[in-house]
Amino acid sequence: MSGAAQALAYNPSEDWTYRTANTKQITHGIHQYPAMMIPQIAQRLIQTYGSDGAFLFDPYCGSGTTLLEGLLAGVTTAGTDLNPLARLIARVKTTPIAITLLDRELARFPCKAPRADFPVPNISNIDYWFSAQVQRDLATIRQHINSISDAKIADVFRVAFSLTVRNASWTRKSEFKLYRMPQSQMDKHDPRTFELMTQMLVRIRQALSRSTVWCRAKQPFRLCMSSTQFLVSLTK
Ligand SMILES: C[S@@+](CC[C@H](N)C(=O)[O-])C[C@H]1O[C@@H](n2cnc3c(N)ncnc32)[C@H](O)[C@@H]1O
Repeated sequence: MSGAAQALAYNPSEDWTYRTANTKQITHGIHQYPAMMIPQIAQRLIQTYGSDGAFLFDPYCGSGTTLLEGLLAGVTTAGTDLNPLARLIARVKTTPIAITLLDRELARFPCKAPRADFPVPNISNIDYWFSAQVQRDLATIRQHINSISDAKIADVFRVAFSLTVRNASWTRKSEFKLYRMPQSQMDKHDPRTFELMTQMLVRIRQALSRSTVWCRAKQPFRLCMSSTQFLVSLTK
């Protein structure tokens, strides 16, 4: 058996479950995603097989758990994922930001719906998932995000927006699959959309506040939609 195969061989005395581990440290907890990697497993594999500082490529990177662990270990990383939401979360999770810039934008964010009437996008089934008030609030928040000039800060707002959309909707909250809550719950569901968005932003800000300290990336991090796009990006 080769060294690597031997190292991976099943050893019942080793614990890989990390049942009680905190999996939300640093920016790992900014946004949930289906079937997330346990950060401690990625960390252990990188320490065991990537300690010589090689290149880490995650072709189905999802929300970027392994990419973040690579960055924390000082490894150059790249990832691809078809899902634009996955790429957005992965990008925000792994990009250090100037917290003063974020704070400036946070201060500019209205805590209540301003008197404005932005067009609600034409999305199929929108009335099935959102009340008319929530639709108007979300359209206003979206408009506000589009006015943010710094691309990194706008992305932070988009992650908070994704969480807000889900929480303000009539989706059941306890699962990833989309089911609408029963009518009795819908009648009581009266979210303050702007307050929700602010709460999400404050939570993400907290996670990102020390990002320039923990990020020791050797080279810029790359994130693409597909392996082909990634290979093309290497030639540029
Ligand atoms: C289980 S998730 C990965 C979750 C990730 N480990 C994390 O911690 O967030 C699998 C990912 O593979 C992506 N995917 C599936 N087929 C793909 C393909 N052909 N090319 C790129 N990404 C793909 C999906 O969009 C999904 O985000």
